[in-house]
Amino acid sequence: MKVTIIGAGNVGASCASLLAQKNIVRKIVLLDIREKLSEGKSLDISQMLPMTESNTKVIGTTNDYSKSKNSEIIIITSGIPRKPGMSRDDLIQTNAEIIRSVTKKSIFFSPKAKFIIVSNPLDVMAYVSYMTAKIDSSRVIGMAGILDSTRYRFFLSKRLNISPIDIQSLLLGGHGDTMVPLYRYTSVSGIPIKEFLSEEENDAIVEKTKKGGEEIVDLLGTSAWMAPSASVIKIAESILKDSKRIFPCSVFLRGQYGLKNIYLGVPSIIGKSGIEKIIELQLNRKENDLLIKSADHVKNMINKLKKFND
Ligand code: NAI
Ligand code: 2OP
Repeated sequence: MKVTIIGAGNVGASCASLLAQKNIVRKIVLLDIREKLSEGKSLDISQMLPMTESNTKVIGTTNDYSKSKNSEIIIITSGIPRKPGMSRDDLIQTNAEIIRSVTKKSIFFSPKAKFIIVSNPLDVMAYVSYMTAKIDSSRVIGMAGILDSTRYRFFLSKRLNISPIDIQSLLLGGHGDTMVPLYRYTSVSGIPIKEFLSEEENDAIVEKTKKGGEEIVDLLGTSAWMAPSASVIKIAESILKDSKRIFPCSVFLRGQYGLKNIYLGVPSIIGKSGIEKIIELQLNRKENDLLIKSADHVKNMINKLKKFND
């Protein structure tokens, strides 16, 4: 099996490194537009693999898409990340052009691939890739909810002084300030979170989670890549092993949750065909209102992009 990663920057190279160490694919192709970058990163990763006991071949290429031919999965991380003071939405125009161009070239060489989109603003970029690829939406998946829920679990674990491993959580909505972590669906080893803290106390953790990405941008001057790349590989692994794991992913909605023609984060079953099922939950009024607000934000962004292109 072969996986191609477009963009050999912070997220792309980390994805390659994490996936290669798992020894579950025959080949990883790392592609970037910047001369020599992916070649150098691939060599470094390859020289680590004897120590981590992996036989995966990692190949770097400067923009030669023929090397990506017949990939099972294409992971798109190309584009610009945000700098301090920028929102994810500020990246829309530049990244949309990049996503269109790399999707076209990738689908030409790998017509059967599943796409995992990472570039921001995530839900809009997943939509752009889907519209460009013209394939079934089950094969174009946006990664954000896994990252946001892992951040939420981390902040909760610090607040409660318990292991983050034992916290289960679920998140809906877009990747950004309008994300919707669900208090009712959060538990600690099966114990509902309400046994540990009130909804108001939880709301403070949710606020912290919403600012989780920004906190790292302010510290590093660019956005996070360790937790994001680990989140991407969770999706890739579930496809490659046909594990049918349930993750919150940005997917194309056709009436689910009362929403249409939009990419948005909802719980989904991920297997060898990509999104195998979207899980619909009965939301209460507060949850539903928050989801609609989040969807409106993403829709506005999509409309803004359409206007740019008119
Ligand atoms: P980076 O700047 O380190 O890497 C981006 C790479 O894309 C660069 O090496 C650049 O040369 C390459 N690139 C640009 N245009 C290209 C093209 N046309 N073809 C091939 N390669 C091209 O950025 P980083 O930190 O890796 O982030 C990548 C993207 O992922 C950003 O848009 C960032 O906002 C997003 N992101 C999304 C997350 C999520 O949760 N969905 C989490 C973290 C980052
Ligand atoms: C994050 O949340 C940049 O979207 C990315 O860290």
